[in-house]
Amino acid sequence: MHNNIVRADLDCLIEYLSQDDPRLTNGPKVEEFEKAWSNWLGVESSVVLNSGSSANDLAILALSHLKGVGEVVVSPLGWVSDIASIIHAGCKPVFVDIDLATLAPSVSAIEKAITRETKAALLVHILGLAALTQEHIELFESLDTVELIEDVCESHGATVGLKKAGSFGWMSCFSFYYAHHLTTIEGGAVCTNDMEVYETLRMLRAHGLVREVKDSAVRASIVESHKDLNPEFIFQYAAHNMRPTEIQGVLGLAQLARLDENNKARTRNLMRFLEQLDEKRFYTNFATEGSSNYAFIIILREPDTRLRDAMENKMRENGIEFRRGLSGGGNQLRQPYLRRLYPDLDPKDFPNVEHVHNYGWYVGNFPDLQVQEIDWLCEVLQGPVN
Ligand SMILES: Cc1ncc(COP(=O)(O)O)c(C=O)c1O
Repeated sequence: MHNNIVRADLDCLIEYLSQDDPRLTNGPKVEEFEKAWSNWLGVESSVVLNSGSSANDLAILALSHLKGVGEVVVSPLGWVSDIASIIHAGCKPVFVDIDLATLAPSVSAIEKAITRETKAALLVHILGLAALTQEHIELFESLDTVELIEDVCESHGATVGLKKAGSFGWMSCFSFYYAHHLTTIEGGAVCTNDMEVYETLRMLRAHGLVREVKDSAVRASIVESHKDLNPEFIFQYAAHNMRPTEIQGVLGLAQLARLDENNKARTRNLMRFLEQLDEKRFYTNFATEGSSNYAFIIILREPDTRLRDAMENKMRENGIEFRRGLSGGGNQLRQPYLRRLYPDLDPKDFPNVEHVHNYGWYVGNFPDLQVQEIDWLCEVLQGPVN
């Protein structure tokens, strides 16, 4: 990957820091970025945080506070925090397999996993592909007691129909970590159209403090029922500190100005890559419509371990950096933290996630990648292997 924070972003930061007494802790710049980001995404409000993992944690914590503790449907392909957040909140992850075309669970897989205990489905948009189809959206519209939470950490700008991924769910999570479409070095956000969720997230972001609530009437009513407490120090929830700094606000605003243009370049790169890829060796039938690519997705068609190892040797010899297992290293059910918690769950019961775990990689895509580099990458990937 190339550095995604460019000179222009650093110049914005230097200009900000050159003021006489620039504010550095969470304040007006973060708020300005929250408004601009919500506007770009097409949602009412966003709460910017110190990471995408914090976004996962706060989304599921808010779910458990507002809807109760229960089951959350999730696929074992994603980042550790997609599942850790469910466990941290005292909820139970219910695992479902993915479709290879979207790398996300199908409508029927989700429907089968829903029980009376289900509070939400956490759907991860993997590496730029949209996890949602119109059918998913209709499903969640028809479900009164199951919320949709989107993890869009790897797919800023992906669309489903006319709307952006992250604008459909009750909440959506973003990461602004270094290699992502938009970066604030470290950072993240939870976005929502629900004002109760927004106020809850604001408290959960900052120690559970009631003084974080924006709506003065809501704040006053809580304060009123705790007359024995200093209004400045009412801790509504047992919470952490996940606040960002003003530096993240300044960088986010600078990066947002280039995001759409960058995403177009990422998509152009992906299309050039997929058009050349040998469909006999590689799976190429991804649902790319509306995608906003994070990294090139490379999956062998057949479960051929000898070819897999030879391909890895070849990529290493050519200096091509890759990550096996796609997002988060593949099937989370193989990871020690889940093996310990769910020893009876068999990772092999999720055959498509298993296939990606064993025979899938990602290789960096970034806006200034040159066409010659893409063509060369394809040549290396399709050429003869020993
Ligand atoms: C799908 C997904 N969710 C959550 C995260 C966590 O984000 P962060 O690294 O900002 O904590 C990542 C990280 O890249 C991710 O890919």
